[in-house]
Amino acid sequence: MKVTVVGAGAVGATCADNIARKELAQELVLLDIREGFAEGKAIDMMQTSALLGFDTKVKGVTNDYESTAGSDVVVITSGLPRKPGMTREELIGTNAGIVQSVTENILKYSPETIIVVVSNPMDTMTYLTLKTSGLPKNRIIGMGGALDSSRFKYYLSQALGCSPADLNAVVIGGHGDTTMIPLINHATWNSVPVTQFLSKEKQDEIVAATMVGGATLTKLIGTSAWYAPGAGTAMLVESILRDEKKLVPCCVALDGEYGQSDIAIGVPVVIGKNGWEKIVDIKLSDEEQQAFAKSAEAVRSMNSVLEL
Ligand code: NAI
Repeated sequence: MKVTVVGAGAVGATCADNIARKELAQELVLLDIREGFAEGKAIDMMQTSALLGFDTKVKGVTNDYESTAGSDVVVITSGLPRKPGMTREELIGTNAGIVQSVTENILKYSPETIIVVVSNPMDTMTYLTLKTSGLPKNRIIGMGGALDSSRFKYYLSQALGCSPADLNAVVIGGHGDTTMIPLINHATWNSVPVTQFLSKEKQDEIVAATMVGGATLTKLIGTSAWYAPGAGTAMLVESILRDEKKLVPCCVALDGEYGQSDIAIGVPVVIGKNGWEKIVDIKLSDEEQQAFAKSAEAVRSMNSVLEL
């Protein structure tokens, strides 16, 4: 198997590191526009191979798309990250140009690939990739819900005093501070609803903390986070390459599901060797359904900036 990660910055390199350590692919290409940057990161990663005992061959390249030929999966992380006080949406102009040109270059050499979009604003970048690539919709997956759900589980685990691994909890909707929807009423701790253990006030606090989880880290670190985004992306790559059929919220194109069409937004999907293979329906309450429609409106208005 062969994977390309475009953008050797914080998220791309962390994703690549996870892929290499888990030996998800035999070949891993890290590509960046900055001269020598991906080469340096790839060599550094390869120099951990003797220490960690993995055998994935990591190669770094500067804008050399020929080296990416025949990739089974391509991850796009190229683009600007947000700075403290910025929203993901403010990145749209610059990142749209980058994502579009990267997609065109990638498809010249890997027409059969599955693309995982990470660059922000991710929902719009995912829809842009779908529209400009002409690929079947199941081969374009936006990574946001995997990260947001992991953050939701983190905050729940802190309140419950349990392991995040014992929790089932998902975040659907757009990948934005005001558009994501942590489904607290569907979250369980080993099958028991978490709402049974938490006051309404605490539940609201957890939902609010999840929604600004990324912004909280950006304020602390000075730029946007990378460990969890990189791990969340690598988890999707793993489910594709190993055909694991993981059920994860991802940003995908809807065609009437959840009452929406002509949009890519976060819903639970099964991820396997064909990309996203099935959209899974969660029975939403009226209130949740309204929140989803509102979130879709916000994503749609972001898409309209690019006339999508
Ligand atoms: P970064 O600045 O560390 O890395 C971005 C890299 O992209 C840089 O190395 C840059 O040289 C490269 N790049 C820029 N234009 C390029 C081009 N045309 N071709 C190839 N490489 C190019 O940023 P970071 O923190 O890695 O974030 C990357 C993107 O991912 C940002 O847009 C950020 O907002 C987004 N992000 C998305 C998340 C999600 O959940 N979907 C989570 C975290 C970040």
